[in-house]
Amino acid sequence: MSSEHEGEAVGRIVGGDSASLTIEGNNGANLELDELLVSESSSSDYTVLKINNMSYGPPTNPVVPDAAKSLHDDRRQDREEQDHMFYMARPVLRYSEGKLGIPKVIPQLWSEVRRANKSDFEFLTNNSPDTVFIGKIRSGSRVMDIDIRLNGRDLLTHHVMIPATTGRGKSNLVKVMLWSILSSGRFGILLLDSHDEYYGRTGRGLKEHPDSTERLAYYSTDSVPGSFSLVINLESIEPDHFEGILAFTEAQKQAISLYHRAFKEKWIEAIVRGKEIRESVSEITIRVIQRKLRRVLGIYEENGRIKCESSVFSADSGTTTLVDIVKSLESGKTVILDTSRLGDDGELLIGSIVAGRIFSLYRNYKGSGELDSKAPVSIVVEEAPRILSEDKIAEEGNIYSTIAREGRKFNVGLIAITQLTSVIPRTILSNINTKIILGNEMALEREAIINSAVQDLSDQDRSIASLDKGEAIVSSIFTRFAVPVYTPEFEQFAATERKPRGMNQGLIM
Ligand SMILES: Nc1ncnc2c1ncn2[C@@H]1O[C@H](COP(=O)(O)OP(=O)(O)OP(=O)(O)O)[C@@H](O)[C@H]1O
Ligand SMILES: [Mg+2]
Repeated sequence: MSSEHEGEAVGRIVGGDSASLTIEGNNGANLELDELLVSESSSSDYTVLKINNMSYGPPTNPVVPDAAKSLHDDRRQDREEQDHMFYMARPVLRYSEGKLGIPKVIPQLWSEVRRANKSDFEFLTNNSPDTVFIGKIRSGSRVMDIDIRLNGRDLLTHHVMIPATTGRGKSNLVKVMLWSILSSGRFGILLLDSHDEYYGRTGRGLKEHPDSTERLAYYSTDSVPGSFSLVINLESIEPDHFEGILAFTEAQKQAISLYHRAFKEKWIEAIVRGKEIRESVSEITIRVIQRKLRRVLGIYEENGRIKCESSVFSADSGTTTLVDIVKSLESGKTVILDTSRLGDDGELLIGSIVAGRIFSLYRNYKGSGELDSKAPVSIVVEEAPRILSEDKIAEEGNIYSTIAREGRKFNVGLIAITQLTSVIPRTILSNINTKIILGNEMALEREAIINSAVQDLSDQDRSIASLDKGEAIVSSIFTRFAVPVYTPEFEQFAATERKPRGMNQGLIM
């Protein structure tokens, strides 16, 4: 490798083990959590280390060998240049003889380390158009000019979780990712936007993307130029769509199933009208279902007519909405459903209707051999515990838990955004193969995130706690180590991306 690799030594390795090396910092080195260091035995053989902890003086437990400790004590008296800071760093990558791998040897004791720089990662560059941009490699708080891009098909069909405390940049990250997905045009994204913050109704948003006319479909109840109206016909709704969203008792479920059998897609209308069926169903049961439907769908009967309080559900219009949305997704478009004027249940129901339709179609495509001609689809859900927490999934599960468990086989995935990880069952978490972890000050949540991560993140609690806005750690089966990244602020990112540029430099790990 070139001389660019050379950099000033910032410290030396004084002890530790394969999981955590102890580095004594040079005076003025001021190393940070998440900083990437390099220990080089030659320009073609070097190990990248990531700082996970730091302390004054050597750590008491257990790493610095006695020899190092006494050397340190001697130095302390003799040499003023030591800053007496010790850093605990994990060897995360080794580049040796042209190959990249997980380190199986550790660098020499006493060897010097330097800060990582761009050229240390350059061999990873990849120009595939099928990648999703997550951010740039970050070394501590220093952003390096190297894109982190992951293969879109792998990333999206194996599910993504984005956990963080409020305000740390989850939505910003998703906007940036969706921008690059729009550029590729190869993946269908369904986004339930309960805050109407992605399209850019009032400010900048995904509509600014140069390909938005062809590749972005925006559905809203409050139309703007270029939007489609968000109206779902009642006949598109099936009893299953309520799973995990609206709780029905056994008696109510039975009644619904009888109405569904008798009236097919007109089952909701039949219940709302209180139509008679052959089987005996208690009048009270029907009334309770009617009340629930009115609360969630806003639908009721008045003077013999079916009415909807909101314009989202309709007995006579919106017959092609679902078909149109599904077609867009199949052909690699991003579909934003502005659900900001709906209640929680209404939003989740719509999500469930579309997700259910996509899932069953894609399962059929797999059977008929057509799956490869359809774009993989990912469904973005904000506040994922609303549909993925233990109590929402219960025994039968719902469409989202089904997708988490089986979607991969049919190229359907989830991007689950959440403030709380601890309430999502382990069986679901273990199916989510990429976690993009942003800042989190809640110890309990960090513990849940660390316990469910792909890599061993047990030593990164401090790092996660101290992540600033836009800073993240990407832990994925598709990255060789938990990579520190920085995701740019969307508006700036969009402004620079709109300018024509050369090949996408990117990184597939
Ligand atoms: N990378 C970044 N650089 C600078 N500012 C950022 C960055 N990411 C987000 N912000 C800013 O921080 C604020 C919160 O970001 P965002 O809405 O993405 O957070 P969030 O995690 O989605 O929050 P919530 O839990 O409320 O949905 C916004 O004003 C956004 O512009
Ligand atoms: Mg948000």
